[in-house]
Amino acid sequence: MNNPINLLEYEALAPEHLSKMALDYYASGAWDEVTLRDNRAAFERLKLRPHMLVDVSRRDLSAKILGKSVRMPILIAPMAFQCLAHPDGEVAAASAAADAGAVMVLSTLATKSLEEVAAVRKQTPQWFQLYVHRDRALTRALVQRAEAAGYAALCLTVDAPVLGRRERDARNEFALPPGMELANLAGLEIPEIAGESGLFAYFAEQLDPGLTWRDLEWLCSLTQLKVVVKGILRGDDAFKAVEHGASAVIVSNHGGRQLDGAIAAIDALSDVVAAVGDRAEVLVDGGIRRGTDVLKALALGAKAVLVGRPALWGLAVAGEAGVRHVLELLRDELDVAMALSGCAKVEDINGSLVRRL
Ligand code: GLV
Repeated sequence: MNNPINLLEYEALAPEHLSKMALDYYASGAWDEVTLRDNRAAFERLKLRPHMLVDVSRRDLSAKILGKSVRMPILIAPMAFQCLAHPDGEVAAASAAADAGAVMVLSTLATKSLEEVAAVRKQTPQWFQLYVHRDRALTRALVQRAEAAGYAALCLTVDAPVLGRRERDARNEFALPPGMELANLAGLEIPEIAGESGLFAYFAEQLDPGLTWRDLEWLCSLTQLKVVVKGILRGDDAFKAVEHGASAVIVSNHGGRQLDGAIAAIDALSDVVAAVGDRAEVLVDGGIRRGTDVLKALALGAKAVLVGRPALWGLAVAGEAGVRHVLELLRDELDVAMALSGCAKVEDINGSLVRRL
């Protein structure tokens, strides 16, 4: 299989291009990986009810996210340490996203600096994902750098007061290889620890498990940027996020990497959409592998979806071109799925298209 024709084929090829430690880090879920698997299975439980005899000869996949027009309702989710997949890491992924017209969300734990990544931006906005460190001065400095570098939104991850237990990482004693660094966090590093994931230890030492809704308010007061809260799985929490200043929420279980047994993200979406109404935008990630998955998520009320691992598999297999291809494949699949469902534009996609049997 030399020329992957879908995201699953990229996933199948990726192991040839990754060290065991990197592959396990990316592929892992927490504990028994039940949620990881269920993120996929939940999409398969949803059935489509397409409309026929609608004129779909001209199709428009563009969307508006946080007030900005984008070419597709598909973003790249924040993911740490992308230089583990390819030497150009986050710069390559961002450059591909810029070409494809997809928003890329850059991780705090990137291996390229947020300024280097900002430099490859084109028309499409980029967002910066924020982990609130115990050291609030450091956190504030990250926010200021993201503003200065022109990021359009801050994406606050709220599902990680501690890191989920990914047992493969503990076995591998996950740490960054020599020469790779936390490019946004000078002086901090992922420690090497016997029998433990260095990232687990980093979270325990550096990140603040005492974060509350007040800190969301603090963040909103600190910045002009829109704040997106990522990692919400309940309508009542989504409601609180909006009350405390969020412009959008991302329904997410962190790709099954945090609380194993947590509800599949797509199964949590309707509750959140109902709670938020039109007061904020709702996005979803977790298990998106096909254009039909995007269609189902949009039908259930998401404004857009984020893809995570598939972008990394593209990066590992073919660098920037691989990420671009992954985004184009997913967009093309969404285009065909929309045509086959009687939807000429994203606004035509609504809840009547989906049924859970
Ligand atoms: C970091 O956020 C991770 O999920 O590994």
